Amino acid sequence: MKEKSIQLLNKAVADELSAVHQYMYFHFHCDDQGYDLLANLFKRTAIEEMLHIEMLAERILFLKGEVEIKASEETKKLHDVNKMLQIASEMETKSADDYNKWANECAQNADSVSKKLFETLVGDEERHFDQYDVEMENLKKFGDNYLALQSIERSKNISGQSLGVQ
Ligand SMILES: [Fe+2]
Ligand SMILES: [Fe+2]
Repeated sequence: MKEKSIQLLNKAVADELSAVHQYMYFHFHCDDQGYDLLANLFKRTAIEEMLHIEMLAERILFLKGEVEIKASEETKKLHDVNKMLQIASEMETKSADDYNKWANECAQNADSVSKKLFETLVGDEERHFDQYDVEMENLKKFGDNYLALQSIERSKNISGQSLGVQ
């Protein structure tokens, strides 16, 4: 029972690591293009995924397992914001599906603490999905204007700062 849980928890660590890498990559590129709102969303989400790794690692160590720090996927090198949001929401949907399944597996193996942990993560991943989905909708609704506004907002902030107004 312990071995199975450790294996599932480590699979989750690998997926969370991939998400951290991918979202930080998206963060750098949105930041580079001046899209502050999206850059911050990707960064905040990456930090939350890192906290997930911490929760998973604590459970693995409690079960006397070894934490495998290895990402499950290569980082995709995408610069198009629409594609970034598409990939990010797919990753969240997959995580939520997997964690739901793994919560059930842990329950079948009489490991209710790991089950609860996976259920907590499902809630977070669904919220992440929703945040990305809202941004995709905004992009669909307002098109490039939506991105242009973010760049303009940044320029305003920068000129405000240089005048000491902010
Ligand atoms: Fe996560
Ligand atoms: Fe997530």
